Amino acid sequence: MSIEQKKILVTGGAGFIGSNFIHYVLEKRKNYSIINLDALTYAGNLNNFNFLSEEKKKRHKFIKGNICDKETLENIFKQDKIDGVINFAAESHVDRSISTPINFIQTNIFGTFNLLEVIKKSNTRLVHISTDEVYGSLGKEGYFKETTPYDPSSPYSASKASSDHLVKAYHRTYNTPCIITNCSNNYGPFQFPEKLIPLIILNCLENKTLPVYGDGKNIRDWLYVLDHCEAILTVFEKGIVGENYNIGGNSELQNIEIINILCDIVDKKLNKKVSSKKLIKFIADRPGHDRRYAIDFTKIKNELAWSPKYKFSDAIEKTVSWYLDNIEWVKSVQTGEYKKWIEKNYSKNRTPF
Ligand code: NAD
Ligand code: TYD
Repeated sequence: MSIEQKKILVTGGAGFIGSNFIHYVLEKRKNYSIINLDALTYAGNLNNFNFLSEEKKKRHKFIKGNICDKETLENIFKQDKIDGVINFAAESHVDRSISTPINFIQTNIFGTFNLLEVIKKSNTRLVHISTDEVYGSLGKEGYFKETTPYDPSSPYSASKASSDHLVKAYHRTYNTPCIITNCSNNYGPFQFPEKLIPLIILNCLENKTLPVYGDGKNIRDWLYVLDHCEAILTVFEKGIVGENYNIGGNSELQNIEIINILCDIVDKKLNKKVSSKKLIKFIADRPGHDRRYAIDFTKIKNELAWSPKYKFSDAIEKTVSWYLDNIEWVKSVQTGEYKKWIEKNYSKNRTPF
């Protein structure tokens, strides 16, 4: 009996989580092929696919295009029978949403609306990738559940919350088969080094300042990106339409704790004589900085049998090794846009806010 071939459209597949997901799916599902639609903003990087084998490259088709462009989306659906859509395409960095919110409104809200309009006609299954940041900030106690009311703090999280509401509304109004996932902070290969973990690794390597916002005691629940990829594929294959699923790592850490851990790992790996911790600098806090995120992932655990497999201490070590071993990839992203961002935000003792 032949196995059914599946074609899925991955939007934003050249970014951090999207490219990890494409690698993951091509490895785990030999009957899947992928159309990857990505606008290649500063965060999209086709070098991420140099790592694919020739056989996998044949099952990966890249299209440069914007989810805000309806014609591009319609053409994809005209040309191919699409069995499902995973929407990663987004502006994803909170700090950029503070300086240029318009891009977030455009892609995260209007782009998602556009995608929903096209999907509505073909009744294709959509998994919309969202974030735990839509729930706002927690105090010392408690966890985000799927029933926690949305209470976003940044233009980024507000735009993601808006997109989630649209997705839910299309399911309720038009019966479009949509599912939402709300995940905590990810780490792993291919992350653009404006985000905390790769930024700190590379700054340790280059003996640059390690900027800590505020008192460094903000807490995030860290999840290794391959655990997230497994959860997304599980939701795509087994999730119930109309539902949302929280995904988390059960690994709460303060920012300053993470930074200290990263310094120790890099120093050990590079045999550094002077501790990287000397580079730590407390700077002005991010406006609207959420204090704590923590996920209750009981629903996906009980209903879809997913829970994280990677231990934080192993996966963070693996992640540091990946950046140190892939200097060519690092150089490929440390180009125009990266330099501009670092120069604007961190040089000459200026702080980002
Ligand atoms: P990323 O910034 O690394 O990648 C985003 C990708 O989307 C890039 O390749 C970019 O070129 C592309 N893109 C941007 N605008 C586009 C547009 N208009 N049309 C087509 N492509 C466009 O982001 P990421 O960290 O991989 O996040 C992916 C998704 O996961 C986002 O929706 C984000 O909100 C969500 N998420 C991220 C995290 C995290 O820790 N990174 C955690 C939870 C949820
Ligand atoms: P980030 O990686 O931007 O993810 P998010 O804001 O989506 O959680 O930041 C993670 C945490 O690290 C957040 O509390 C802000 C903090 N942070 C710093 O202290 N210094 C930095 O240079 C960056 C980029 C982030």
